[in-house]
Amino acid sequence: MPATIILGAQWGDEGKGKVTDVFAEHAQLVVRYQGGNNAGHTIVVDGERFALSLIPSGVMYPQCTPVIASGCVIDPRVLLDEIEMLDDRGVDPRRLRISSNAHLIMPYHRKLDAVMERYLGRHKIGTTKKGIGPAYTDKFARQGIRVQDLFDRKIFHDKLEATLVEKNKLLTRVYNQLPMNASEIADEYLEYADRLLPYVTDTSLLIWESLRDGRDVLFEGAQGTLLDIDHGTYPFVTSSNPTAGGALTGAGIGPRAIDRIVGVAKAYISRVGTGPFPTELSDEIGETMVSVGGEYGTVTGRRRRCGWLDLVALRYSARVNSLTDLFLTKLDVLSEFETLRVAVAYSSLGERYTEFPRQQRVLYNCSPIYEELPGWTSDITGVRHFRDLPKEAQRYIEFIEDEVRVPIGWVSVGPERRQVLTRSP
Ligand code: GDP
Ligand code: IMO
Ligand code: MG
Repeated sequence: MPATIILGAQWGDEGKGKVTDVFAEHAQLVVRYQGGNNAGHTIVVDGERFALSLIPSGVMYPQCTPVIASGCVIDPRVLLDEIEMLDDRGVDPRRLRISSNAHLIMPYHRKLDAVMERYLGRHKIGTTKKGIGPAYTDKFARQGIRVQDLFDRKIFHDKLEATLVEKNKLLTRVYNQLPMNASEIADEYLEYADRLLPYVTDTSLLIWESLRDGRDVLFEGAQGTLLDIDHGTYPFVTSSNPTAGGALTGAGIGPRAIDRIVGVAKAYISRVGTGPFPTELSDEIGETMVSVGGEYGTVTGRRRRCGWLDLVALRYSARVNSLTDLFLTKLDVLSEFETLRVAVAYSSLGERYTEFPRQQRVLYNCSPIYEELPGWTSDITGVRHFRDLPKEAQRYIEFIEDEVRVPIGWVSVGPERRQVLTRSP
């Protein structure tokens, strides 16, 4: 498996952290290619839980170099805290490499994220308020400040002062906030510079060298396909490309380098924040998914909205990412239910849809058309072979494969690293 992209096939929180950690055992590099500390990736090793927001999940293995590539946005304070947290818990973070081209999340990005959401009122996106949207906005407006700017005091001051002229007008005149002070921000950020310097490098070159030498490289997506700025449920999305294409631009490699694209999907589905969600359950079943699945955000602690597995969305995800495999997670959570439902199509405004609708109006009016499958209601958390799963669970997996037309190579039955079963081909 030389080059494998691991990405979220739904609305995030599919278990990408766990999957990456499982795959990273033999990897030389694990690369985060987009997003920032809006992500919360959980790893559980021998009962110990690690929640990572920026550092890729491969960090747990000593042979593996974690890489934060150019497509990411970095809040340096958060990154330094995460480095310290790992160090305190006995995980050596010194192998970490950070792209000099990655953009910085600045204090005014965090502030703008919060006040813009407040102004949107009931139309708000429900962002994580980490400054992600405003930081990517500046990147694309070519007003961003990059990691490399931290190492040239004059450039850093010039860029900061230039951008603050506009930001302060926005903050004071539009959003009724106090202005921000350039020298205070510069003092804070230039202090981070010395601490970050040992990690900074040309990550695109580093990745290319590993691929050239035939080493295993993993690309770990954040968020999920339906949160993609181009292909998700816009405007209720994040401001980057979690889809497979984002791995290429974010890491700085071409499509021919990739061997496998693994979509991580829960055996049901969840979403945090606002936006359309056709299979959402506001009943006891949804409540059970939240409590048994522990569906509370890793980053914001918000309760995740939950619902039955949506195969229309999963087929869409298989298509826009060219998925080669699926990794199905949290199958154990479905042991709670005697009968399971999966959405195979939608009905909206008098029409039936088997393809994910492009029109926001159609999507908002979608009700799912379900197929019912028998549940198994037995504890499967100790199962390690597909043949040992209850036959109803085997049927559930095969039904998904038939509908999505992508093989499910692995199934996760608990949060622990070892709670995985690999399908034999
Ligand atoms: P990510 O953002 O995609 O990495 O996912 P999160 O870490 O935000 O959320 C997934 C949650 O489910 C975490 O608490 C994981 O520890 C947990 N988890 C992962 N796989 C399984 C599984 O197969 N079963 C159960 N019960 N929990 C799982
Ligand atoms: P991981 O990597 C789930 C959601 C937010 C909001 C929208 C935009 O853990 O799967 P943003 O702060 O990115 O501008 O918020 O995207 N969101 C996530 N939802 N998992 C995530 O990351 C998310 N990152 C952002 O809730 O709806
Ligand atoms: Mg998460």
